[in-house]
Amino acid sequence: MHPRPGHGNRWEILVADDDPAAIALLKAVLSGLDVTITGAETGAATLEIIKSHPPGLVLLDLIMPDVRGLELLDQIQQLSPETDVILITAHYSTESAVEAIQRGAFDYLTKPISIDKLRQKIIAWTEQKQRRTAAHELESKLVEISQCEGLLGMSPAMMEVFSRMQRIAPHYSTALVTGETGTGKEVLARVLHQLSPVSEGPFMVCNCAALPETLFESELFGHIRGAYTGAVDTKKGLVEAADGGTLFLDEIAEVPVSVQAKLLRLLQNRQFQRIGDPTPRKVNVRIICATHRNLRTMVDERLFREDLYYRLAHVELRLPRLVDRQDDLRLLVHHFLTRFGDQFGKPGLVLSRAAKALAWRYPWPGNVRELENSLNYCAMMCRGNVIDVEDFPESISRYKLEGSRAITFSTDEGLVPLEEVERRYVQEVLDRVQGNRTKAAEILGIGRATLYRILGRTGRPEPESGSLAKKSQPA
Ligand SMILES: Nc1ncnc2c1ncn2[C@@H]1O[C@H](COP(=O)(O)OP(=O)(O)OP(=O)(O)O)[C@@H](O)[C@H]1O
Ligand SMILES: [Mg+2]
Repeated sequence: MHPRPGHGNRWEILVADDDPAAIALLKAVLSGLDVTITGAETGAATLEIIKSHPPGLVLLDLIMPDVRGLELLDQIQQLSPETDVILITAHYSTESAVEAIQRGAFDYLTKPISIDKLRQKIIAWTEQKQRRTAAHELESKLVEISQCEGLLGMSPAMMEVFSRMQRIAPHYSTALVTGETGTGKEVLARVLHQLSPVSEGPFMVCNCAALPETLFESELFGHIRGAYTGAVDTKKGLVEAADGGTLFLDEIAEVPVSVQAKLLRLLQNRQFQRIGDPTPRKVNVRIICATHRNLRTMVDERLFREDLYYRLAHVELRLPRLVDRQDDLRLLVHHFLTRFGDQFGKPGLVLSRAAKALAWRYPWPGNVRELENSLNYCAMMCRGNVIDVEDFPESISRYKLEGSRAITFSTDEGLVPLEEVERRYVQEVLDRVQGNRTKAAEILGIGRATLYRILGRTGRPEPESGSLAKKSQPA
């Protein structure tokens, strides 16, 4: 056990017992462990300490002179939810022990206390506390790093990605990031590196699509002098440069088939050779690969080695499309408008109602990157601080005129429920009649109340429909 003291009162234990001799005994018994121990002889004194200086753990005697132990347990938990309690019962009383656990006690012990049992329980507590603290620290680190690296998201789909990242980060050696173009694969790779134990090491990017086949191997593994014509000097490759950190292989699907076997060796044993050099070398790198392609299909078409695929697909993080995370659209629009508003000296930049409706209808095939670039363009083009439909790049503003999109019945996760199809169809009709709800209800043969109910079914932030026909106003 290596409890780390010094972080608040994490490793402090309060012994609450009306018998000073019992406190002294527990202090003596626990003195070998790396914890600090204080004592309190009454319920009131216990609560005073909990209020002023909450410990990590209370060893609480069920029978205190001024208050019932179980009541004290409740009060401790209310005052300091982070404090754990191990209850000590004088006589064996299953009822109160069970009740204590039900009421949230960490554990219980019966008097006369077995010293071995007590030590075991304290060790179990410190170990669990350490795990909980590590998980908690990783969680706040994830929030902090995601924000500073710019991986925003609060949709259920992104929360799932964050949760998976958090579990993967301490342990992975190779990870695959997939998702359509512009969904944030590179940003995610950087966050994953920051969360990993090698965050202090380098983060080297190899864009596998940008290199001609002949140069690829040398770029990745390096070469020795005279290895081939033009190799005038010995050169280290990206693999070596990433030693002690992370190698990010972007567009992994584009790796030439001829190099895939060598890549597999690197993934399997962290071994490689510089071109022209027979000596195998070892590196200590985490490898993150990314692709927007479907590797499984490429395997079937014999364009990608199956064994390499299985090595990679083992730990996969899949980024959702932007249309499948409408909750994030609002967040991202706000984020980019704030950024570009500052950049172009147009503070308080907003979308007009019509522009908002357009942004929510448009399918964003280029995902976050397309949204970012478009809003950058809008921010530059708009005259005041209200962005209108005409300020969008033409390919997007025209989308309004072409009107309807095909209603999709599926998402990445599979087919959508009937209710959702119904909602999408109602939305489509509404869009086609420029948001005129009376007209839409008429076409659909339903009442306006039913129409509202259907539209209100998802948590999707609805922009004001009906705005397309009206003169635009600021949102
Ligand atoms: N969740 C997000 N929050 C904020 N910005 C994001 C987010 N996801 C992506 N971006 C921004 O979108 C742009 C594209 O992201 P990135 O390059 O990581 O995408 P990609 O998936 O690697 O795309 P491609 O497949 O085209 O290489 C970047 O400018 C990035 O900052
Ligand atoms: Mg990319």
